[in-house]
Amino acid sequence: MMNAIEIREKYLQFFESKLHKIVPSDSIVIKNDPTLLFTNAGMNQFKDYFLGIRKAAVSRVVDTQKCLRVSGKHNDLEEVGVDTYHHTMFEMLGNWSFGDYFKEEAIAWSWELLTEVYGIDKDRIYVSVFEGDAKEQLEADTESLAYWKLWINEDRILYGNKKDNFWEMGDSGPCGPCTEIHVDMRSDDERATVDGKTLVNNDHPQVIEIWNNVFMQYNRKADGTLEPLPDKHVDTGMGFERLVRVLQGKQSNYDTDVFQPLLIKVAQKVGMTYGTDEKIDIAMRVLSDHIRAISFCIADGQLPSNTGAGYVVRRILRRAVRYYYSILNYEKPLLTQLVATLAEQFKSVFPSLYEQKELVAKVILEEENSFLMTLEKGLKKMENYAVGSSMTGAAAFELYDTFGFPFDLTRLIAKEKNIEVDEPGFQSAMFAQKTRSRKAAEVETGDWVDVIDTEEATFVGYSQQQSSTRLVRYRKINAKGKDAYQLVLEQTPFYAESGGQVGDTGIISMGGELLKVWDTKKENNQTIHYVDNLPENIDGTALASIDSNRRTAIENNHSVTHLLQAALREVLGEHVHQKGSYVGSEYLRFDFGHYSKIDEVQLKEIEEVVNSRIRLNTAVEIKTKIPIANAIAMGATALFGEKYGEEVRVVSIDSNYSIELCGGTHVAAVGQIGLFKIISESSVAAGIRRIEAITAQRAEAYVNEQCTVLSSAKNLLKTKDILKTLEVLLLEQANLKKQIELLMFEKVALVKSVLLTKKSVANSVVIITETIDITSIEAIKTLCFQLKNENVNTAIIIGAVVENKPMIFIALSDDLIKNKNLNAGLLVKQVSHNILGGGGGQAFYASAAGTSIAGLQAALDEAINIILT
Ligand code: SER
Repeated sequence: MMNAIEIREKYLQFFESKLHKIVPSDSIVIKNDPTLLFTNAGMNQFKDYFLGIRKAAVSRVVDTQKCLRVSGKHNDLEEVGVDTYHHTMFEMLGNWSFGDYFKEEAIAWSWELLTEVYGIDKDRIYVSVFEGDAKEQLEADTESLAYWKLWINEDRILYGNKKDNFWEMGDSGPCGPCTEIHVDMRSDDERATVDGKTLVNNDHPQVIEIWNNVFMQYNRKADGTLEPLPDKHVDTGMGFERLVRVLQGKQSNYDTDVFQPLLIKVAQKVGMTYGTDEKIDIAMRVLSDHIRAISFCIADGQLPSNTGAGYVVRRILRRAVRYYYSILNYEKPLLTQLVATLAEQFKSVFPSLYEQKELVAKVILEEENSFLMTLEKGLKKMENYAVGSSMTGAAAFELYDTFGFPFDLTRLIAKEKNIEVDEPGFQSAMFAQKTRSRKAAEVETGDWVDVIDTEEATFVGYSQQQSSTRLVRYRKINAKGKDAYQLVLEQTPFYAESGGQVGDTGIISMGGELLKVWDTKKENNQTIHYVDNLPENIDGTALASIDSNRRTAIENNHSVTHLLQAALREVLGEHVHQKGSYVGSEYLRFDFGHYSKIDEVQLKEIEEVVNSRIRLNTAVEIKTKIPIANAIAMGATALFGEKYGEEVRVVSIDSNYSIELCGGTHVAAVGQIGLFKIISESSVAAGIRRIEAITAQRAEAYVNEQCTVLSSAKNLLKTKDILKTLEVLLLEQANLKKQIELLMFEKVALVKSVLLTKKSVANSVVIITETIDITSIEAIKTLCFQLKNENVNTAIIIGAVVENKPMIFIALSDDLIKNKNLNAGLLVKQVSHNILGGGGGQAFYASAAGTSIAGLQAALDEAINIILT
C-alpha cells in the first residue's frame, strides 16, 4: 500500500512525465485579491492566465495546493468532522493547461493515472459530464462524453446539471463545464444490491467525488453574462485526502496516514479511544482537521484577529476548542500540543510550518487560553436555561457570535437538557448579520470597459516619477455608497500597494482635465489607479505624475525597514523573521517574531546600529531577474507565506549586511534617510513584537519637539539639571502627602467631638450628619468606624469634597442594621444620583463619589429620609 507521501509524489511525477512543470503551492492566505480571503481552489493563483490578463511562462504545470473552504461561495465548515470526507484545509492536486491541451488529453490522462498508475478498479469508477443549460444557452458537453466513451462503458457516464457540472470560482471570473470522477468504495455485496450510479452526487459517504476536470471556456462578468475566453484551458482539482483514502482502501479520510498521527495524538492527550462513540469521534475529527487549517494559516502569515481572514482563523480555532472542552472534557489548551506532530508530518511538503513551529504553537496557545476564559462565561449562560425550557434564535445567535458556540454544539448541549432551540430564528439572526457585514464591506464593481487593445500595463515607477501614457481600461465602482473609478494605464509610474508599501498618490492629466489619484492598488496583477471621476475625453495621451515628495518619504521608510530588519538580527539574533510590515509616508511599522519585550537598552542599540548604517551612506543596489535559487544562495531574506516568482528582485544595502527579496521602491543611497527614530515597541500577538519608527524630517521634528519640551521644563523649574530637580520635587511631594494624611487623622478627633455634639434623634434612631472638611478618604473612614462602633442605634451620614469630587459616606451601627433592616451599600446606591455619581460597599459602611457638588446636601437628606421611614 502506498503511503500519502508516495501518492502525492506519483501524481506530480505522472504529470511531469507529460511535460508539466512542478510548481509550489501558493500561500493558503490570499494577500492581493479583495474578493477572496483564502485560496479555495488550486486555480486561484492561475486566474489571470485564464482571463488572458497575463501570459503564463509555461503552458503546463502541476502542483499540490493548500486550500481552505470555510467562507464565501465554497463553504464546507458545518460538515467538517460530522462526516468523514469534508475538510477545512485540504490539499488539491492539480494539473493545468494554459491554452495548451484540452478535453481529449485531460480525460485520457485522468483515466491512465487512476487506473494504471494508481490501479483503481475500473468497475468502481463513474464519471459525469455537463448536460447543458437552456437558460444560460449552454450546450451539453458532448465532446467530453465522446472522449470518455473511448475509455469507460457508457452506462458509467452520467449527465449532470449546472450545479454539479459547471464550475465557477465565485460570482464572477473564469468558469466552464466540468467532468467529475467518482469512486464507489462500498463492499461487493452492497454494490451488487444497489447500483452505484444511483448514489453518485447523493451524499453517500462511500460513493464520493475525487477529481474534477474543469474546462475553462468562459468569463462570468459582473452583470452575470458569460463571455467566451480568448483561449481554452484545463483546471483540474483532485482532493488529495480522498484519493489517499481510496488508494489505502479506507472507509474514512481520517483512517488514512494523513490524519492518523493527529488522531492518535488527540486520543492520547484526552485519554479516550477513537471509534467507540460517534459524538467523541466527531470531536476528535474536528480537532485533527481544524489544527491543519489553523496552523497553515498562521504559518502563511495570517494571525487570528477580529476582522477579515484573521476572524475566520479565530472562528475555526474556537470551534475546535468548543469540541474538546464540551465533548472530550478537556479543559486545558489542546490544539497547541498538536502543532509539533503536524509540522513533522509536512516537513518535506510545506516546510514553512516546520520552520515556524514554536511560533505557531505559541500563537495558538494564547488564543486558546483567552477563549477558554470566555467559554466559561458562555457555558454559565447556558446553565440559566432550565431543563425542558426553550431557547430563542437570538439567544443561540448570541452564544454563537459572542461566545463562539457553533450552532451544532448549542443544539447538542441543549438536547441533553431537553431544551428546544429555535433553529429558524437562529438562521435568520445569522442571515441578518451576514447581510449587515456584507453591506458594510460591499464594493460593487461594474464591468471593465476596454479603451485600447494593448498588452498589460507596465510599471515604470522604479526610475520615473512621470510618464506619458494612455488609458487601457476602466470600471466604475461604488464603495459604501460612493462612486469612484478604477483606471488601468498602459504605463504607470504609480506604485501599487504591495509588500507593505502603500500605493502612490498623484495626478493624471488627460484632455486638459486633472484627475486626482487618491490610491493605487494591485488587483489580478494590474495596477489600479483610484480616481473620483472619468475625464470627458478618455482617448489620447495622458500624463501620469506621482506625488514625489510623498514618494521620497515612503522610500526613506522602506529602505530603513531593511536596515531595521538587519539591525534586529544583529542585536536580538538570527531568529528574527518579518511577520508583517507597513511602509507609509508618515511612519513605518515592522512586526517580527521574538519572544520577549525589547528593553530600552536594546532599543537604543538597534537605533544606533541603524543610524550608523545611515551615516555610511551605502548605495542601495537593486538586481532584477535573479533566479530565486541564486537569490536564496546569496543569503536573501524571504518572507514565509509569500509567493515569489521564478525570477526575483533583490535589494541589497551592503551585500554582507542586508539582502532582501523585495519589489518596493528605495532610496539611491541610505544617507538620504537622515535620521531614524523608534517611537514605540509593543506586542501584537504571542511571540510577535512591533516596532514603529519615523525617519528624515519627521524624525527631526520629533527630536526637536522633545528638546523644546525639555527646555520649557527647565525654564519652568528654573534648573539646569532637570532630573535631579524632579527627584527632589517628587520626594518633597510624597512627604507633603504623608504630612497631610497625618494632619487629617488628627483632625478626625476634633471633628468627631463636634459631630457628637450635633447628633439628633428621630424615630428612635440617632442621626449624625454633616458635610465635613476632611479630604482624606482613609481619615473619613476611620471617623465613620469610630462613630458607628462607639454609639448604638446610630446612622452616620457624612458629606465631603475629596480632590474636587463630592462624596458621601454612610455608616450604620450593627444593631441598627438588624433592627431596621438597613444596608449602607444599598443606601448610597439609592441616593448617589443626587451627586451624579455612584458607589457601593457593605451593610455597615459604604461610600459614593460623583460630579455634582451642588447635590451633596440633597443626597444626605434623602439618605436620612430613607433611614427614618
Ligand atoms: N477548480 C476546480 C475545483 O476547485 C478544479 O480544480 O474543483
